[in-house]
Amino acid sequence: MMDNTIHILGMGAIGSLISSQLKRQPVKAINIVRREISAKLEFTPYQQTKPTHIKLNTCLTQQLELNSVQTLLVPLKAFQVKTAIETMLPYLTPEAVIVLMHNGLGCREQIKDILLDTHTIVSATTTHGAFKPSDNELIHTGLGETRLGLLVNNQEQENLAKLYLNPFLSGFSPCHWDPEIERKLWLKLAINACINPITAYFQIKNGLVCETQHQKLIDAICQEVVHVANCKGVQFDKQELIKTVIKVAQATAENFSSMNRDVFYKRQTEINYINGYIVALANQYQIDVPANQMMLEWIKN
Ligand code: PAF
Repeated sequence: MMDNTIHILGMGAIGSLISSQLKRQPVKAINIVRREISAKLEFTPYQQTKPTHIKLNTCLTQQLELNSVQTLLVPLKAFQVKTAIETMLPYLTPEAVIVLMHNGLGCREQIKDILLDTHTIVSATTTHGAFKPSDNELIHTGLGETRLGLLVNNQEQENLAKLYLNPFLSGFSPCHWDPEIERKLWLKLAINACINPITAYFQIKNGLVCETQHQKLIDAICQEVVHVANCKGVQFDKQELIKTVIKVAQATAENFSSMNRDVFYKRQTEINYINGYIVALANQYQIDVPANQMMLEWIKN
């Protein structure tokens, strides 16, 4: 039976933004939290200055019914995904659709063996910007778009995912089902592989990545991404990647990247899933990727 509820893991910036947008839809969005936390938020919509008060629906993990979660969005940091999915296993229905939304790659490989064959893993990437200056404040800083798709060819799973995710696709607009999601994920990986470690190491805003002194490094990182992606069957032109990196850095010029903030606040970073993922794949294919290796050394966790 189709259940009109979308469960969202955590109350991070993107997870809270999604529920705030889904409030206007005929769908119930529930944020699953690990500890009692106030569900009241002062929400500042995009390009507005005055916050409005909203209340999200939250539920503690242990309050969920076993075998009850049909649609699960996972907007967590990459390094949190595996443990979070393990905790959620008893609560998922056998046909559950799980949507991964994070920077970097590699989580799908980590969780596919702990899930059932009947579970569907959807990969997503979003360019929305959201920021939570405190637990009770949410600011929608950048209007972006979200793309979703399957990394495997399975028509039955695709139909099910589209059906279950329909309220999300229409409610978190603009949001599109993308048959070329793998390419979009690699493009995002290249963006993060350049902008994140450079802004984190030098503690600069995204816009400064475009300065001449970083050009050689960006060129080398992109060259290596093209090579490794090619081994995985994803074709890119280096100049196209560089152009996209610069475009994103310019569009988010005044922002601090997520890795910049993680390093600043001495938190764990997603480096192992970004440049680390490229290095791990390169090792498998016996390719040298010294620029990505250097980024990994710059940002040690
Ligand atoms: O991780 C981030 O901060 C973002 O993905 C991006 C695109 C680099 C913009 O800041």
